[in-house]
Amino acid sequence: MRISIFGTGYVGLVTGACVADVGNDVVCVDIDARKVERLNAGEIPIYEPGLEDIVSANHTRKTLRFTTDAASAIAHAQVIFIAVGTPPDEDGSADMRHVLAAAQSIGERMNDYKVIVDKSTVPVGTADRVRERIAAALAQRGAKVPFAVVSNPEFLKEGAAVDDFMKPDRVVIGADDERAIALLRAVYAPFQRNHQRLLVMDVRSAELTKYAANAMLATRISFMNEMANLADELGADVEHVRQGIGSDPRIGYQFLYPGAGYGGSCFPKDVKALQFTASRHGRPLQNLAAVEAVNEAQKLRLVEKITARFGGKLKEAVFAVWGLAFKANTDDMREAPSRSIIGALIAEGATVVAYDPVAMTEARRVFGEQSALTYAASPLDAARGADALVVVTEWKEFRSPDFAELKRALRQPLIFDGRNLFDPAQVRGAGLEYFGMGRR
Ligand SMILES: NC(=O)c1ccc[n+]([C@@H]2O[C@H](COP(=O)([O-])OP(=O)(O)OC[C@H]3O[C@@H](n4cnc5c(N)ncnc54)[C@H](O)[C@@H]3O)[C@@H](O)[C@H]2O)c1
Repeated sequence: MRISIFGTGYVGLVTGACVADVGNDVVCVDIDARKVERLNAGEIPIYEPGLEDIVSANHTRKTLRFTTDAASAIAHAQVIFIAVGTPPDEDGSADMRHVLAAAQSIGERMNDYKVIVDKSTVPVGTADRVRERIAAALAQRGAKVPFAVVSNPEFLKEGAAVDDFMKPDRVVIGADDERAIALLRAVYAPFQRNHQRLLVMDVRSAELTKYAANAMLATRISFMNEMANLADELGADVEHVRQGIGSDPRIGYQFLYPGAGYGGSCFPKDVKALQFTASRHGRPLQNLAAVEAVNEAQKLRLVEKITARFGGKLKEAVFAVWGLAFKANTDDMREAPSRSIIGALIAEGATVVAYDPVAMTEARRVFGEQSALTYAASPLDAARGADALVVVTEWKEFRSPDFAELKRALRQPLIFDGRNLFDPAQVRGAGLEYFGMGRR
C-alpha cells in the first residue's frame, strides 16, 4: 500500500519505518528541513532501540523516503497519517496548529480518495475539525474529492517504540466509514497475525481512549508517589507495598514504581489537555487535578531529601546525577524530572556533574552552557569527588554498581536513589548512607 506520514518525530518515524518494513511504500514528510536532510543522509535524529536498523534497511530499499515536499507525499498515498506534535498551549489545551496545518495542506492538494488518519494525540472533536478544514480547502478550489478522517491514537512507549508498534497490545480505530476501516485493517494486518487486536469504535471514543489511557497511567504513578511519601513518614517500605498490591491481578505490577515524578512529552501535556477539555465541558476531573499536583511536588521531593540531609547548605556542594532522560532507553528530555532537580540544585548554589548513556547531547541543548553543570564520560567519573550521588533515571547500567568503588569515588558516601534502583541494605552494608523514595 502507498502510505504517507506527516511528522517524522518519535511517532511518525517509528510508524513510517514499521509500515515500510512490512512491505508498504512509504513517504515521510516533515517541515523541519534539517531533520529531513539528516534522515536522507542516514542519520537518525532520535534514540530509539531498533529504529536505526529498520530505517536504514527500508531507506536503502527506497520503500521509505523522506521529504519536505508535502505535495509529493499527498499525491503518493491513499492513506495519510498525521503524526505531528500537539504541544501544550499556554492554557494547558493541546495546540492543534500543526495538525490543522497538515489537514489544510492535504485539502489544498488531494485529487483522489484519501483516508486521513489522526495519529497525533488530539482532543475529542479534532477529527471533525480536520474534516472541516479539508472540506473548506477543497471547497476553496472548487474540488469534489471523497475522503475519510479516522482517529487512530498511538500507544507506543518511547524506549520500546519499535517493539510496541510491531506487536501492539491493541490498535484503536475510530471511524464511521467502512471503506476507511477496511484500509486500516489492511495496514495493521501484518502487525496482528497472531490474533486480532483491532478495536473499532466511533471517532470520539477513540480520541478519548488515548487520553484516558495516559491519565490512568499517570494516576498510578502519582498514587504510588503518595504511598512512598507516606511510607517515609510511617517507617514502611514502599517496595514491599508495591509487591504486595501488584500481586493482586486486579491491580498488576505495571506502573507502580514511585520515583521523581512522571515526565516526557506525553503524560504532562495529555493530563493537562484532558483536564482542559473536561473543565470546558463543566466536568473538571478532580482525580486528575490531584494527580498533576502530586506530580509537580514529586519532581522536587528528591531535592527536599537532599536539602534536609545537607542541613539546607547546598552552596558549593557537588552532586553526581545519574540519568537525564525522562526515562530509560530514550534521549527525550521533554518535562524530564532531571530538569527540575538539576535546576533546583544549581539554584541553591550547588554544582552538578551529570552522566546519561544517550541524553547528554540533548541535555547540552536543553541546559545550554552553564559553569555549574558539566558532563562525565562514565557513571563512576561523575561520582568522583561528588558530595552525593543522585539517581534520576532508571537506566539498566545503573542498577548494579560496585558500591565499594562508588564509596571510594565519592567525597561523601551518600546516595539519593530517586528510582529505588538499589537495595538499601546492600548500599548500607557497603558503608554508604542511602535515601530512597519510601524505603525503610
Ligand atoms: N512520543 C511518544 O511517545 C508518543 C506516544 C504516543 C502518542 N504521541 C503523540 O504523537 C504526536 C507526535 O509526537 P512525537 O513525540 O512524535 O512528536 P515530535 O515532536 O517528536 O515530532 C513531531 C514532528 O512533526 C513535525 N511537523 C510539525 N508540523 C508539521 C507539518 N505541518 N507537516 C509535517 N511535519 C510537521 C515536526 O517538525 C516534528 O518533526 C503527539 O500528538 C504526541 O502526543 C507521542
